Amino acid sequence: MSGNPKNAQGANTMWGGRFESAPDDLMTQINASVDFDRRLYAQDITASKAHAEMLVAQGIIPAEDGGKIQAGLDSIGEEIEHGKFAFKHELEDIHMNVEARLTEMIGAAAGRLHTARSRNDQVATDFRLWVRDALARSDDEMRDLQAALINRAEAHAATVMPGFTHLQSAQPVTFGHHLLAYVEMLGRDRGRLADCAVRLNECPLGAAALAGTSFPIDRQASAKALGFDRPTANSIDSVSDRDFALEALAMAAIAAMHLSRLAEELVIWSSAQFAFIRLSDGFSTGSSIMPQKRNPDAAELVRAKTGRISGSLVALLTVMKGLALSYAKDMQEDKEPVFDTFDSLSICLRASSGMIADLEVDAEAMAAAAGGGHSTATELADWLVRELGMPFREAHHVTGSVVRAADQLACRLDELSLAQLQAIEPRITAAALDFLSPTQAVESRASYGGTAPTQVREQVRLARERFL
Ligand code: ARG
Repeated sequence: MSGNPKNAQGANTMWGGRFESAPDDLMTQINASVDFDRRLYAQDITASKAHAEMLVAQGIIPAEDGGKIQAGLDSIGEEIEHGKFAFKHELEDIHMNVEARLTEMIGAAAGRLHTARSRNDQVATDFRLWVRDALARSDDEMRDLQAALINRAEAHAATVMPGFTHLQSAQPVTFGHHLLAYVEMLGRDRGRLADCAVRLNECPLGAAALAGTSFPIDRQASAKALGFDRPTANSIDSVSDRDFALEALAMAAIAAMHLSRLAEELVIWSSAQFAFIRLSDGFSTGSSIMPQKRNPDAAELVRAKTGRISGSLVALLTVMKGLALSYAKDMQEDKEPVFDTFDSLSICLRASSGMIADLEVDAEAMAAAAGGGHSTATELADWLVRELGMPFREAHHVTGSVVRAADQLACRLDELSLAQLQAIEPRITAAALDFLSPTQAVESRASYGGTAPTQVREQVRLARERFL
């Protein structure tokens, strides 16, 4: 950062006309956003090109100047891409850095670009374009994670594991069914993403500072050139609205919360105490002091990054709260939380896909655990209702006595003999024993969306149709 462009009094050349002295260094520091908003450079150049083209088409600026502006903006884009652009703090932000460079390159014609425009509608347009691209990338990454989950679900449609409530063994389920739960969550995340992409897709360009402009601009044309569905309807709202960023952050916060739950399960399942899965070497780390350790650091970091993502949502909500219309410089604080969120969400989604695709499943450990914790007690209660016509509450009570007996004998429910069961309820027959095995229990839950392997295979087929 160097070369402070100043007028004779040392004031900023972009807006310093009425100033008699240069800004304080601290003013420059607190004001400068170019260190982070340079990430908007491609969007800024694209939007400026569309604006210049419209100004020429409307006869507002001469075609010759328009041509110079287009060529100059293209060269600036290349300079930035090749790391040859000297960003200057004194020029505050990406918008004024680009415009000042354009003036260096093409002279006075550059001054015509800002006709019928303000940085207020400019930044709102650039930022919408950036968020729109970020949403499209997230959608792809979410689809990739769904694909990884669906593939593993298909392979493990019949792999029995304990299903949990309160993290206590509840009823046996299949691993494929459990993974498909995350496919549903990601499907809703993608639905929220698509909703917010629709509302985002209106073009603020031409709202100018806040009130519109006296120049005969064509906002429909600018909107169309930038791939927006239509221009925004109210110029004041156009420059003061950041709902598109908030909605994107809210979507990301919910998605990150989902990923943190998956990450937490990977941590639990890969622990020595559970040992249901083994994360690949590629997604595990060792300890520098304990040679036996395999740590699930990637999963832990996915779990942790949820904190900064939901923090970003709260940060921007707090920036926007109570801001009088229309634009205020407070809104410059909108960008870092959004950039950080999409960087974090992206690495979390990609790391989750990698962990899911690579993990090894210990089906025996899962099956052994599935039989523990008397997880088929509900099966026995259902059998008593179905076969003996017992009211469910009574069946629940009888089954409770059976569980107590198994506890006293320190055995699993499917290890009790018929005689032991009949000592509790004489009408129980050998047929009931079948329902005490976790595999049988799982196969019997074939209701729509249930855990039976037949259902899981059907839901895998439907998920591919719905999401991939
Ligand atoms: N860097 C500013 C931002 O991000 C651009 C808009 C500045 N507008 C203004 N009136 N000072 O919000």
